[in-house]
Amino acid sequence: MAIERTFSIIKPDAVAKNHIGAIYNRFESAGLKIIASKMVHLSKEQAEGFYAEHSARPFFGALVSFMTSGPVMVQVLEGENAVLANREIMGATNPAEAARGTLRADYAASIDENAVHGSDAVESAAREIAYFFSAEEVCPRTR
Ligand code: PPS
Repeated sequence: MAIERTFSIIKPDAVAKNHIGAIYNRFESAGLKIIASKMVHLSKEQAEGFYAEHSARPFFGALVSFMTSGPVMVQVLEGENAVLANREIMGATNPAEAARGTLRADYAASIDENAVHGSDAVESAAREIAYFFSAEEVCPRTR
């Protein structure tokens, strides 16, 4: 088993509904450790940069508007196979297709406002972590 890091966002809808603690509990209950965390209100430029790979998609403007509509929690999760583990905890992008007991099934209203983001690969995780956190802000846990 590989110890990995992944990047996670609790999106504006879930923050507004006071689900931060419940979502952190899911991460910790699954054995993932939170090794960096902060609340930020993304600027339009920050959101456009983060989602640049989707800039040609028809929903891009709505996605940027949503992601800048209120504060988000950004965090780094560390643990065994953390990238895939977090994707399983989150469930499918579209909450209508998300398995029971996943974050999106429980906390997301629609594909446009789907509660959480998680990196899709170790490489994108490293890029996304560096987009939000300096090296000093990430605290490896030895126990
Ligand atoms: S897809 O559709 O499977 O290619 O989606 P994906 O590459 O996983 O991620 C697309 C990101 O855009 C967000 N988003 C939407 N996707 C699809 N359709 C609609 N209408 C839409 N609106 C927003 C989606 O949640 C993904 O963002 P993250 O932050 O990764 O969840």
